[in-house]
Amino acid sequence: MAIGIFDSGLGGLTVYGAVADYLPDLPVVYFADSAHTPYGVRDADDIYRLTCASVERMWEEGVDLAVLACNTASAAALRRMQENWVPRDKRVLGVFVPLIEALTERNWGDNSPPREVTVKHVALFATPATVASRAFQRELAFRAIGVDVEAQPCGGVVDAIEDGDEMLAEALVRSHVEALKRRMPHPQAAILGCTHYPLMQDVFQEALGADVDVYSQASLVAESLSDYLKRHPDKAGAGTETKFLTTGDPRTVTNKATQFLRRKIEFQAA
Ligand code: DGL
Repeated sequence: MAIGIFDSGLGGLTVYGAVADYLPDLPVVYFADSAHTPYGVRDADDIYRLTCASVERMWEEGVDLAVLACNTASAAALRRMQENWVPRDKRVLGVFVPLIEALTERNWGDNSPPREVTVKHVALFATPATVASRAFQRELAFRAIGVDVEAQPCGGVVDAIEDGDEMLAEALVRSHVEALKRRMPHPQAAILGCTHYPLMQDVFQEALGADVDVYSQASLVAESLSDYLKRHPDKAGAGTETKFLTTGDPRTVTNKATQFLRRKIEFQAA
């Protein structure tokens, strides 16, 4: 059995790392569309087309369940894929819902009507495409009422992380947090709505202040995936091998990935 984890590049490795810790026996096909990263500056049609092509490739590896470990694809393409594209015997899941369930104190898969929740002021940090989609606010409105969300498009951060330029990434994070705080001086919670951002979690936390709860996705997605597979054991596909596929140059991506996750990750050409 194997499940698929998709990202435009390396960011989804934060989700892969948490899944591998949580479900060590589960084979994973990781797909990085490195040739087309970043997705965060593309339009929705482009993101839809690229995400479908990548997921299609994962089906060929014996995957029946693909997790879009990319907020940008989850925000801009997932709903359209689920409505028009995903074959009946396959599933594609995104990364917003587990996060919103945690923020709104719900159990996995609780679809009861929206209700008042403790948190009232939420800062969302994400790519420009994710912010423009308003998918986070839409999913939140299904589950909670009276929550004020202020979203900050964090241009440049993904490129700086993919290029391994930590100083630039840090400076950009600080300036994005400052920009958000001018509009929402006292957020109670902050959502790191991009799978690259957990690498900068300490910088976000420091710039926001210790009293802000910072939610990052990797472990939440791993826990909800484990719960999903218990409820739908038939969705762990036929693949038996963990492998890392990329549309980019495998050598370059392998080097960057190993640096990114601080363990050896060997990519092969998709
Ligand atoms: N890491 C992805 C996300 O979670 C997208 C980064 C990008 O390709 O812009 O949004």
